[in-house]
Amino acid sequence: MKRTAAICAIVATILSALSCGQAARKAETPVYLDESRPIEERVEDALSRMTLEEKVKILHAQSKFSSAGVPRLGIPDLWTTDGPHGIRPEVLWDEWNQAGWTNDSCVAFPALTCLAATWSEEMSALYGKSIGEEARYREKDVLLGPGVNIYRTPLNGRNFEYMGEDPYLASKMVVPYIQEVQKNGVAVCVKHFALNNQESLRHEYDAVIDDRTLNEIYLPAFKAAVQEGGAWSIMGAYNLYKGQHLCHNQYILNDILKKEWGFDGAVISDWGGCHDTDEAITNGLDLEFGTWTDGLTMGATNGYDAYHLADSYLERLRDGRASEDVLNDKVRRVLRLNFRTAMRKDKPNGSLCSPEHYDAARKIADEGIVLLKNEGNILPISRKAGSRILVVGENALKMMTVGGGSSSLKVQREILPLDGIRAAAGEGVTVDYERGYVGDVSGSYNGVVTGQDLSESRSAEELINDACKKAAEADAVIFIGGLNKSRHQDCEDSDRLGLGLPYGQNAVIEALAKANPNLAVVIISGNAVAMPWVDNVNAIVEAWYCGSQSGIALADVIFGDVNPSGKLPMTFPVKLEDNGAHHLGAYNPESRTANYSEGIFVGYRWAQKQDIRPLFAFGHGLSYTSFGYSEASVSKTKMAADGTVTVSVNVTNTGDREGKEIVQLYIGDDEASVERPVMELKSFRKVSIKPGETVKVSFEVNADMLKYYSEENGGWTLEKGVFTAYIGAASDDIRTSVKFSVR
Ligand code: BGC
Repeated sequence: MKRTAAICAIVATILSALSCGQAARKAETPVYLDESRPIEERVEDALSRMTLEEKVKILHAQSKFSSAGVPRLGIPDLWTTDGPHGIRPEVLWDEWNQAGWTNDSCVAFPALTCLAATWSEEMSALYGKSIGEEARYREKDVLLGPGVNIYRTPLNGRNFEYMGEDPYLASKMVVPYIQEVQKNGVAVCVKHFALNNQESLRHEYDAVIDDRTLNEIYLPAFKAAVQEGGAWSIMGAYNLYKGQHLCHNQYILNDILKKEWGFDGAVISDWGGCHDTDEAITNGLDLEFGTWTDGLTMGATNGYDAYHLADSYLERLRDGRASEDVLNDKVRRVLRLNFRTAMRKDKPNGSLCSPEHYDAARKIADEGIVLLKNEGNILPISRKAGSRILVVGENALKMMTVGGGSSSLKVQREILPLDGIRAAAGEGVTVDYERGYVGDVSGSYNGVVTGQDLSESRSAEELINDACKKAAEADAVIFIGGLNKSRHQDCEDSDRLGLGLPYGQNAVIEALAKANPNLAVVIISGNAVAMPWVDNVNAIVEAWYCGSQSGIALADVIFGDVNPSGKLPMTFPVKLEDNGAHHLGAYNPESRTANYSEGIFVGYRWAQKQDIRPLFAFGHGLSYTSFGYSEASVSKTKMAADGTVTVSVNVTNTGDREGKEIVQLYIGDDEASVERPVMELKSFRKVSIKPGETVKVSFEVNADMLKYYSEENGGWTLEKGVFTAYIGAASDDIRTSVKFSVR
């Protein structure tokens, strides 16, 4: 009994001690762990608890895609992933090669050029939500994307990862993507900031550009990403500006991004973009990734200590060469990023390869595919029983989700164009295939292999003859070609070598057009291509890289189950010299200086200034119905500098099926004291209109939409005088205009 009582007493003492301990521990919950507290308080609290070594430790990578947290404080590691079209498969800790997981296949969403071609903020939000959920499910904290570098030359190998040539369109399209991704507790990392408009010599070229062009053309989409989208991180670009690499650039990162725009997130270096310890410390870099040390390439241990923001930084801090204030600013930014993502407890679970994500990919592709030409209503193709369709071209059966560089993916499925067309053609319609040409038969990237055997033994001549023979007997012919994701095409780290279609495709198209006038040419690319055969082909479609659902979406448009509503986010010039940078010889892939001498005259701004007729203009895109525009009206003809005017137009569906029109508002300054573009996109609206229905579209114009960046004043300037509001269906298809003046 006595023994039992003694044991009970001991147990009671232990229990009470334990519960006191628990209470004490509860009372001591550190501020930084308390999610009910404002994030800034938590960041300050965590910062105050960290040692110098811990602070430096979180500022650089610890593996290919992760950086360390603070284990002692329970702050987790940060995991990044490419981006921007799907979630990259897992690689080994220290290598680019595959980790060999079997649960890391994703949905590939359409390339960002296609998203931009939807001109739909709703589609951008759907994209961000869906890819954000995939990132979340894969437990990623930072999605390396989206990209908003302006389309300066059609040769840029990475244009397919960006949102076109117009700063306003890119600004509008990037914001919903960011907001929706971040709702998942996953940060975006907007890239590549800034002036990364070519891949040739991307680590070496210095962008020489005037302030006006920088501010009017190349910065607005990044600014919108930061100020309107609220991006939590941004990626420095590889190239230089004013002689400093953009991953540590005083002007762009400190002066503009952090001071002028008030960015409170982290600047992450592009992989291997950091070159100098002192510049990295002082010029705005916060988190260093991918620096090429022996440790990385050889897989030896702790190559990461050799990073610029690692041991050499620590040495400078210890001997007083580097200031702790600057260090603390970096640490705060990285902690903020961590607290917003990895550390956040109430995150949604996300989902991977869900039916909703496949639907989203299809919807975005459906709205982004652009009908460039459709004479004689060649499209949509009828499904008449007994009819024969011939599909020709390598891109009809080549997987495009593998390749192209860091945006390469391992997909759960990719519906190829030929399969999509076959599935949608229906009973009684025969779909035959001919190769037509041989392009690039390889199919692997960083150990992900397509497994496709695209080998072909026939000569180019035989391939054309075989295709033409069948074409002559078909009711309709669809040629599916364009570019692919191989080097010198739409691919990171190299630019294209010319505007023309590769692999002798022009000859195939010319021959097919002669064999059968019922020919539709489908271009799969992320860039403009030359079309010397344009007058001989009645129907042309730009189908981009549409990812997992590409074949389904293409078939939707080809058979008319979806009425196309995409419009070009970039100009298709007839020839390279019709582009400003090329006309002036300002794009030189071998030069370490990139002179942006065409200035603000990028894309349609150049074409209109020089009165050059493009092959297909910025904003161009047809529908299976037609739209009529009324005369535009303006709410008042005089606008106060701090006021607004409203410009309106009635748009009527004059055809016989429902369709979506993208009504575009451009503004021109009639009395500018400096040279300005003939007109610039300032607003747009995508509206769905039923046959016979009329929809009123109104745009509110304010002073900000009329300003230009004055180098003299060092800022945005409004000039009084007369302005013209142009409203139309494309930059070269203005249907109506009105004038108003600013007092
Ligand atoms: C690319 C980035 C990418 C990074 C990580 C770099 O080569 O430029 O866009 O996010 O690699 O894969």
